[in-house]
Amino acid sequence: MNNEIVEKNVSWLIILTLIVISVGGLVEIVPLFFQHSTTTPVQGLQPYDPVRLVGRDIYLREGCYNCHSQMIRPFRAETERYGHYSVAGEFVYDHPFQWGSKRTGPDLARVGGRYSDLWHRAHLINPRDVVPESNMPAFPWLDRPVKADDIEKKMSALRTVGVPYTDAEIAGARKQLEGKTELDALIAYLQGMGTTIKGIR
Ligand code: HEC
Repeated sequence: MNNEIVEKNVSWLIILTLIVISVGGLVEIVPLFFQHSTTTPVQGLQPYDPVRLVGRDIYLREGCYNCHSQMIRPFRAETERYGHYSVAGEFVYDHPFQWGSKRTGPDLARVGGRYSDLWHRAHLINPRDVVPESNMPAFPWLDRPVKADDIEKKMSALRTVGVPYTDAEIAGARKQLEGKTELDALIAYLQGMGTTIKGIR
């Protein structure tokens, strides 16, 4: 078929464009589903325990991702500030991942261990108490008990997409949430963030 036929006939142009884009897309995207570097957890990576898992859901519910990314890019300016750049194997148990690109606040991919639990507590209840110039919103309502009655369902759902929770872990999950507040859970999530390969430089 010569160019002229395609360029003068809109239907052919649309059909052939779609075919080209589809093939190009498949060639780029499909291998990522099978590549070791994107599907194998980094050494030592553990699935979220029930408390951190609930904390992660609170992070999503409160929209923290609207201002915070969890993806350190492999550039000097980023690694000097935040630590080792993010690698795909750190996120294989994240469904959905929280990489993002919106950075009203700092990237949080390696915030785990950077501050004490008490600092986080004060910061979440009122950021201005610890960072006077902060424009992060306050989240004072998080000082209330976590909702625990659906934890088994959450963990089973994650298991169907490949997170290796055992039956015993699911059965014991509710007990671990006893007496925890939403702040406790969110802080546990933050403190675990990026710690698996934190030491590497
Ligand atoms: C409107 C934007 C916005 C939202 C929403 C937001 N933050 Fe922030 N966050 C910021 C800004 C700006 C800073 C930097 C100033 C500061 O430390 O308070 C910050 C700082 C932080 C820090 C300290 C990071 C560091 O390395 O110093 C943590 C931890 C944090 N936020 C967690 C959260 C969590 C958890 C939520 C959701 C409950 C959240 N943020 C929601 C804007 C936001």
